[in-house]
Amino acid sequence: MNLLLLGPPGAGKGTQAQRLMARFDIPQLSTGEMLRSAVADGTDLGKEAKAIMEAGKLVPDELMIQLISERIGRGDCAKGFILDGFPRTTLQAEALDVMLNERGLNLDKVISILVDEDALIERIAGRFSCANCGAGYHDTFKLPKTKGKCDECGATKFERRKDDNRETVIARLKTYHEQTLPIVPYYKADGRLVEVDGMAGIDVVCDTILDLF
Ligand code: AP5
Ligand code: MG
Repeated sequence: MNLLLLGPPGAGKGTQAQRLMARFDIPQLSTGEMLRSAVADGTDLGKEAKAIMEAGKLVPDELMIQLISERIGRGDCAKGFILDGFPRTTLQAEALDVMLNERGLNLDKVISILVDEDALIERIAGRFSCANCGAGYHDTFKLPKTKGKCDECGATKFERRKDDNRETVIARLKTYHEQTLPIVPYYKADGRLVEVDGMAGIDVVCDTILDLF
């Protein structure tokens, strides 16, 4: 099963991808996470991506296409994958179809998560994650069950993303409107797109998505 989660920054792509990953036993391919680990590791890609991400802009298409093409080819994607954060431009969407076609694959569903802009900013402002395993939390909507301890791995250190400040969030939303929203008609045109109300609570959104299968 090959899935694509579409949506603006803070829509809940990562949150729902983690749940779908557990449900279907297929990996989450988050280009944002891949780039953040490249930045942390100081690789050439990370060095190029760092300033771009902090400015809320997009890393060049050719780098992202190469990254995802290599990732889809790994063994853990044999049963399928969940794309989160890719494609983000029309060029990336077209390149994805080509790379899937070449491998005899296709996207089973393109799930667009719809959330109001005010809610996006609130969600991003309250987001934090486990510094050890990356599990995602929120100051209001999803606190760890035991205060200060990760539900998944028990670690006690948490972190916030560098691009989650107000100025960068506004830039990320602008980039989304200008460069990513135009890919919605691309998927609508051939009937692959399903829209899901992302304004409900995390569990309700997850149930709505699972009802599609
Ligand atoms: P990326 O990491 O993909 O960031 P993003 O698209 O801005 O999306 P987010 O991760 O901020 O939001 P999300 O939808 O995953 O929300 P989440 O589930 O965390 O990309 C970062 C940067 O990398 C980009 O800006 C770009 O520079 C670069 N990049 C990445 N991919 C690229 C590409 N393909 N091409 C070029 N550049 C690329 O939820 C947010 C918060 O809300 C959480 O705290 C969560 O707990 C909470 N929450 C979630 N759902 C709900 C709900 N239903 N109700 C209440 N709270 C909720
Ligand atoms: Mg995310």
